[in-house]
Amino acid sequence: MYHDFNYEATLASSLRAQWQLDDVLREDQDLDFTRNFMPESLARTGALPSLNAFEQRTLNQIAAHEYLCMFGVVEEFILPFLLDHARPHLLEDDWRVRALLNFASEEAKHIHLFKRFHAAFVRGFPVEVPMIGPSKAIGDKILSHDPLAVGLVILMIEWMTQQHYLGSVKDDGDIDPLFKSLLKHHWIEESQHAKLDTLIVDALAEGRSEAEIDKAIDDVFAIAEFLDGGLKAQAAFNLDALEEVLGRKLEDRAEIEAQQHQAGRWTFIGSGLVHERFKATLQNISPKAAARLAEAAPIFA
Ligand SMILES: [Fe+2]
Ligand SMILES: [Fe+2]
Repeated sequence: MYHDFNYEATLASSLRAQWQLDDVLREDQDLDFTRNFMPESLARTGALPSLNAFEQRTLNQIAAHEYLCMFGVVEEFILPFLLDHARPHLLEDDWRVRALLNFASEEAKHIHLFKRFHAAFVRGFPVEVPMIGPSKAIGDKILSHDPLAVGLVILMIEWMTQQHYLGSVKDDGDIDPLFKSLLKHHWIEESQHAKLDTLIVDALAEGRSEAEIDKAIDDVFAIAEFLDGGLKAQAAFNLDALEEVLGRKLEDRAEIEAQQHQAGRWTFIGSGLVHERFKATLQNISPKAAARLAEAAPIFA
């Protein structure tokens, strides 16, 4: 077996590691808008030579706003997916049922936490930043695909949060400590989710023919393409917001927009696609599936 994850041990780790919303951000706490919010490895705003330091930081904060909203969106479709997966097993393995319900409950808490950060952002940021949506429509579209494809996309998302936390460790001292704490606390619980989602994906793939798995991978590509369209639209919204804050049109807007779209691709897709654990699950299901996704990974780098 390529991993030693099981429901009982993962539930025990989850219960030990659990935190409360106020441990991360109290409702009355404000973000430090004199600092970056996102690690540079994700936001890539320090790499834009035509923007001055204030402008780079403002765009970094706008990228953080996207992060809060995007995770709000994805966690909202993870929740029904989990409940659908748990429901047929309610009378079977007690550890599985408890672990999956705890997983769902933690994701509901994460939605709550991202909303709390979003409210703090809105309180402190000078303009309203538009966001793609509505999240229910995005979630319904994603959930309309093969459950194995949805499970793989969710697994990719769970593992990518580790990459995001490690990025914030590398940028130590530069980014707002509250955002750093958000990435850290999120990863602490996601690391257990990733194990459970590995078990879910294994179960969904079991007994499928190579052709059926190939079809599910087509669906993974369809979901990635759909998400990518959203990221492209969001990059345009982000640049609208930056121009509104600066009170001027950016001469090289098209270049910046494309560069920020690429940063979003890495943050929300690529950083998960290349995670070793994600690749190991794919390899176990089908070497061909692993090769297909590895081939696409550079698009999202
Ligand atoms: Fe989460
Ligand atoms: Fe999660």
